[in-house]
Amino acid sequence: MKKITIAIDGFSSTGKSTLAKQLAKKLQYIYVDTGAMYRAVTLFAMQNGFIEDGKIDRHALVNALDRIELNFVFNEDLGFAEMYLNNLNVEKEIRTMPVSKNVSQVSELAEVRSKLVSLQKAMGVDKGIVMDGRDIGSVVFPDAELKIFMTASPEKRAVRRYKELLDRGEDVQYEDILENVQKRDYIDSNREISPLVKAKDAIDFDNSDVGLEDQFQRIYEHALRIINK
Ligand code: DC
Repeated sequence: MKKITIAIDGFSSTGKSTLAKQLAKKLQYIYVDTGAMYRAVTLFAMQNGFIEDGKIDRHALVNALDRIELNFVFNEDLGFAEMYLNNLNVEKEIRTMPVSKNVSQVSELAEVRSKLVSLQKAMGVDKGIVMDGRDIGSVVFPDAELKIFMTASPEKRAVRRYKELLDRGEDVQYEDILENVQKRDYIDSNREISPLVKAKDAIDFDNSDVGLEDQFQRIYEHALRIINK
């Protein structure tokens, strides 16, 4: 069967990764969560004192980029790959609020983007990949056969994220999360390099009121039509 590249972009907490994981599993494709890579670089910056009290030392981080090794390691039990930073599993740490609060400052650095985009392009050379992020359809894989752009209202997204973090045992406030979601929307959409924009040929998908199963079915069928063309 022909293999294609699927690019899923959109605002934070729109359910991109849930959809991408489902598609990858069904099609037996590789799944790559590029947000995890920006989060891992942010964690590295925090661990090394390059971000303190929300202030980033850009120069120090950029100089240390060569010391960052990122890998995805497939976890058979979970059915998806987990993020490793310098050979340590950081899947839990990268999803915490402190990392979410600092990640926008890291992801707007040209040097960081350039390093991560080349790694991402390399992962997709053989196609058969579902990648989610902000600039996948526009920068990483402009030739992707299927591009989806996901949206949902900030409130709906904040509720989803709130439940997710509560389930993980984090002590969080809804208002704090809504503020973080809105702030990241603003920074992601207004940064100079690779801002979040819908690629011209991407399909808009607002899932504020669509169930997960329904959403998956519609997009999966669309993917099959392209694969079988
Ligand atoms: O998808 P996420 O919320 O885990 O992403 C974390 C942050 O990383 C998000 O605020 C924007 C940034 N990001 C990016 O700039 N480009 C990507 N391709 C993926 C994520």
